[in-house]
Amino acid sequence: MAGGGVVFFSRRVPEEAERTLERAGIRVAVNPRERVLAPDELIRRCRGKDGLLCLLSDTIDRSFLAASPSLRGIALMAVGFNNVDVAAATARGIPISNTPGVLTDATADLAWGLLLALARRIPESERFLRRGKFKVWGPMLFLGGDLQGKTLGIVGAGRIGTAVGLRSRGFGLKVIYTDGKRNRVLEKELGARRVSLPVLLKTADYITLHVPLSPETRHLIGARELKRMKKTACLINTSRGPVVDEAALARALQRREIAGAGLDVFENEPRVHPGLLTLENAVLLPHIGSATIETRTKMAVMAAENLVAMMRGKRAPNCVNPAVYGKPSTN
Ligand code: GLV
Repeated sequence: MAGGGVVFFSRRVPEEAERTLERAGIRVAVNPRERVLAPDELIRRCRGKDGLLCLLSDTIDRSFLAASPSLRGIALMAVGFNNVDVAAATARGIPISNTPGVLTDATADLAWGLLLALARRIPESERFLRRGKFKVWGPMLFLGGDLQGKTLGIVGAGRIGTAVGLRSRGFGLKVIYTDGKRNRVLEKELGARRVSLPVLLKTADYITLHVPLSPETRHLIGARELKRMKKTACLINTSRGPVVDEAALARALQRREIAGAGLDVFENEPRVHPGLLTLENAVLLPHIGSATIETRTKMAVMAAENLVAMMRGKRAPNCVNPAVYGKPSTN
């Protein structure tokens, strides 16, 4: 065994991650299967390993941690860490890291991709063309909506919410946002206003969600909130699926209580509520918010660098449970 220990990757990720660890004298074993490992398989593969690089599709819960006593650190290749029982890891003294910052732009770009797709009905009209239905140009064919002068409502104005807001400049939207604290960048750069969620819901034409998933944000958008939205409004979710009550959303879209939804995340991923699959006014993507070559490479390297620090007994730069070191985080 190499002096630096051995870590397990729960999936194949950009190879720069493996190289980063190997340069540090740490051996890497990679899940040979192109699929998420079942909980018992993950436990088996982690047996005797010193570290783990895992993904948002892995459940790192109390029973996994109890069955994996050799692990000295876990690096998550994602910014959202709702799939990890951080308190249980902290209780066991295991540092957990995430990958903040590096996926901000890619995710903000995708939120705009969904917004534009909805506003201009791009997927719907493309399906129409591919089905051979484009027989003649028409002045009333696939009329969408202008963005100029409309209102963008950002729910959660952290890194990604801010980046989404800043991108509105070129499109001429007004920006309002909800957040626990004031966002000086959005206010100074765009004249954005902080409002309550009910006000945002009834005012905005495009509502985009950028909150982490927590007990407080689960079903933040449910039947009551959807009813508050304008009939012409669209909802965009690139955060976490359970932030939205998916069954309530499918009903609201079916009844045309809101105009559309652009979703990159789902409540029970990879399953999608069947009510959504048949709707023309829903744009549905397989959780590709950070899926660019550059961004995934940066995420993989960042996760690997965190693991190197953990394997050396040093503070992981992006630790989400700094209590394991007895000091506050800068993350
Ligand atoms: C993606 O969803 C992430 O949290 O990194």
